[in-house]
Amino acid sequence: MLLSKSIICLAMGLLPSVFAASTKRIDKTKAALLVVDHQVGLFQLVHDINQVEYVNNIVAHAALGPLFGIPTILTTSAETGPNGPLPKEIIDLHPNSTLVKRHGEVNAWDNEEFRAAVRATNKSQIILAGITTDVCTAFLSLSLIEEGYEVFANADASGTFNKAIAEDANDRMRAAGVQVLSFFAVTLDLMRDWRSSPGAAEVIPFFDKSVKFNSELMKIPG
Ligand SMILES: *[C@@H]1O[C@H](CO)[C@@H](O)[C@H](O)[C@H]1NC(C)=O
Ligand SMILES: *[C@@H]1O[C@H](CO)[C@@H](O)[C@H](O)[C@H]1NC(C)=O
Repeated sequence: MLLSKSIICLAMGLLPSVFAASTKRIDKTKAALLVVDHQVGLFQLVHDINQVEYVNNIVAHAALGPLFGIPTILTTSAETGPNGPLPKEIIDLHPNSTLVKRHGEVNAWDNEEFRAAVRATNKSQIILAGITTDVCTAFLSLSLIEEGYEVFANADASGTFNKAIAEDANDRMRAAGVQVLSFFAVTLDLMRDWRSSPGAAEVIPFFDKSVKFNSELMKIPG
């Protein structure tokens, strides 16, 4: 009896700190965006989401940087090999963003130039997505959590071999305190209020273009 009571107390004492790690909101003034290995030669690995939709999603992910004025770091793995470069649409969105070309490190955090670029943003929150979900996104997310960052994984812009692998990878990240969100949730937490700048005037056309929403159907309050 006593024992069970103390276990309950212990559990309740632990709860707030366990959940605190995964209830943070995105704050565009504190956030940096990472584009991880969205390389043209890797699209063929993605089968948990329709490929046309997926390519739209990764371009939309990269576009969050310029849209919200958040620093963006791009990275590729062995891009002179079969993995290929980032798609031109993403390169064109980021003429001035740092692109770190890794020559061997699987986890981007193992690359010194990449770590330095992330630290140089002086941001505490990281929004990221990559190919594949279970390797590029998950490995980096876990390293970023260890480094003390608040990490938000854009699930729509990470892809992998099948849905079961994606679900396991997302569970693994959540267990470590990563928040796994849809692209829509990431965008609207960055915006927060339709009256913000950027707000309805910029974000609705962005949705029209990126996720083919019909903005006529969206009722904007105020
Ligand atoms: C990139 O930098 C150049 C030179 O500083 C500047 O003219 C241009 O507006 C920048 N482009 C973007 C998209 O920030
Ligand atoms: C880095 O961010 C912290 C917290 O927002 C701020 O106090 C500090 O001045 C920033 N440093 C630089 C070099 O921007």
